[in-house]
Amino acid sequence: MNVSEVADKRIKSLLGWGTQVLRRVSSTPDLDARVLLGHCLQYSKEQLWMYADERVDRACVEHFQADVQARSRGKPVAYLTGSKEFFGLDFKVNRHTLIPRPETELLVEAALALMAGQQKSQWRVLELGTGSGAVAVSVVHVRPQTFVVATDIDHAALQVACGNAQGLLKEPASIHWLQTNWCAGVQGCFDLVLSNPPYVATEDPHVSAEVSNFEPKRALFAGVDGLQAIVCIVEEARALLAGGWLLLEHGAGQGASVRSVLQQTGYRQIVTLKDLAGLERVTQAYWSGQQV
Ligand SMILES: C[S@@+](CC[C@H](N)C(=O)[O-])C[C@H]1O[C@@H](n2cnc3c(N)ncnc32)[C@H](O)[C@@H]1O
Repeated sequence: MNVSEVADKRIKSLLGWGTQVLRRVSSTPDLDARVLLGHCLQYSKEQLWMYADERVDRACVEHFQADVQARSRGKPVAYLTGSKEFFGLDFKVNRHTLIPRPETELLVEAALALMAGQQKSQWRVLELGTGSGAVAVSVVHVRPQTFVVATDIDHAALQVACGNAQGLLKEPASIHWLQTNWCAGVQGCFDLVLSNPPYVATEDPHVSAEVSNFEPKRALFAGVDGLQAIVCIVEEARALLAGGWLLLEHGAGQGASVRSVLQQTGYRQIVTLKDLAGLERVTQAYWSGQQV
């Protein structure tokens, strides 16, 4: 179905067309159509509703049609609009960055809870695999006095993260960006190391084509069991923690394996946190600061 079949080109008619086209590919066709048309018109959801009878000009109709067609081929909405909301902030994203997930907010909440529970003049935090910078920027947004080093292996992702810090933080210079392979070359000593690393098994049949075809492979996949990056981080982080916490996001079915890796590597006070659906999502553990 082509948008030319929509006779009057009013907002409500275009939304109806977009919803119908997207029904085949999306579980939220109405929402997707609203977000995409709102993006083309620079209208909020409320404005789309208030001006539902307004006619849309040709350039916007063509833009909307192109976006709906791209969406119907599986491209995520966030890559079409160029942004995604996370922890109450609007992060720029592109094909070099993972689209921040709601479940990763638990990692930020866990970090903030640890920081709130222990008085320090300044927390020193290391985030490994920062992607769009969603985790590091959210932490500094809540606790501006935190010193943060955020790393990623992907230079283009770090550029997006740095731009997000500049756009969203009053003190963007609190975050120091470093392109590296996990902890290689990271200097200093940290109170908290946190990461949402890639943790999907390479042959995982549950990964949707939408995810695997569009999001960066190295942001997602981590060997046959999905634990390759986690094992590496658990081992390397010890040298950077002088009595401090490691916080890791992981797959819902990986809690037991992650606890076991941490236990065997010498971490203590290992606790796994569950999300609102009761799924094991984040594991925290304490490294006492013994020499590795
Ligand atoms: C699951 S994404 C997390 C992105 C972001 N922190 C978030 O939560 O939305 C994992 C990130 O780790 C990065 N990464 C993958 N392998 C890496 C490595 N060997 N060293 C450092 N970063 C790596 C990827 O580029 C990606 O940005």
